[in-house]
Amino acid sequence: MKPRLIVSRQIPAEVTARIVAEFDCPIPEGRDMDQDTVIRMLAETRADALLLTSHLKLDAATIARIPDHVKIAATFSVGFDHIDVAAARARGLPVTNTPDVLTECTADLAFMLILNAARRGHEYEAIMRKGWRRGYGMGEMMGVRVWGKTLGILGMGRIGQAVARRARGFGMRVIYCNSRRLPPELEAGAEYFADFRAMLPHCEVLSLHAASNAATADIMNAETFALLPKGAVFVNVARGGLVDESALIDALKSGHLFGAGLDVFRREPDYDLRLGELENVFLTPHMGSATVETRQAMGFRALDNIQAVLAGKPPIDPLWT
Ligand code: DGY
Repeated sequence: MKPRLIVSRQIPAEVTARIVAEFDCPIPEGRDMDQDTVIRMLAETRADALLLTSHLKLDAATIARIPDHVKIAATFSVGFDHIDVAAARARGLPVTNTPDVLTECTADLAFMLILNAARRGHEYEAIMRKGWRRGYGMGEMMGVRVWGKTLGILGMGRIGQAVARRARGFGMRVIYCNSRRLPPELEAGAEYFADFRAMLPHCEVLSLHAASNAATADIMNAETFALLPKGAVFVNVARGGLVDESALIDALKSGHLFGAGLDVFRREPDYDLRLGELENVFLTPHMGSATVETRQAMGFRALDNIQAVLAGKPPIDPLWT
């Protein structure tokens, strides 16, 4: 008999094919399942495992309602701020994520946002789609150079380091702030700042790669945006909770920031539409890992975690030990 699995959201076809081959699972179609539906489906099917994505909040109350026959909850994401890991641990429920496999694609997207925010990608694209038809003077529609600038990275984990590697190809000086200093081989020439506020005045470009938690909530606010040099470019592919979006909008409107590239928002998918009214913002809908190769690898990694636990082995990517 195949193990029983509940999947809370539509996932790529290749991952679905593997699920069909290895699990007994009702394949989700259409709408994302909410917490009540997931709990009901887990109970009705006597599921052994749950595969979820970051749209589903596994808070303490929901974790308490997960039936005992569920042996693991695996999230199809590297971020796990939607999971109350302490509650899962208290209950002895293994929870896993999908690190590593999305590092390079998420770093690519961060760089896409840096380039588009600095070089006015959204505005150029809009002009072309309207038919162009007017030559711009040599002093019009100018972006700011990325090459040779100083890039500040908050959160020098796997993705932050991958962004730093790309930045070196753009001749950038890389500075970073992290909870701990990296060893020299990982630092690879990047300069460490223990104090985030002390780093900010040096950041001509600032890219966020820190986890969302109590320590990083609203870390970018009116005070910290003001510490950036005038004309800085701001990028966030981490989590919206790191940013006070009203303060960001003020900094963009006043021209203190030259531009911003945003893939994540405080509220998703119903993000703050005021951001979309600003010309100097380049927006993407939380798509850091959205390539064929990476999404497939994430799904397989989540399934590998599930299979390991159901086979009585330790999870590959445990969120608690
Ligand atoms: C991740 O994997 O954490 C992405 O941001 C999608 O949630």
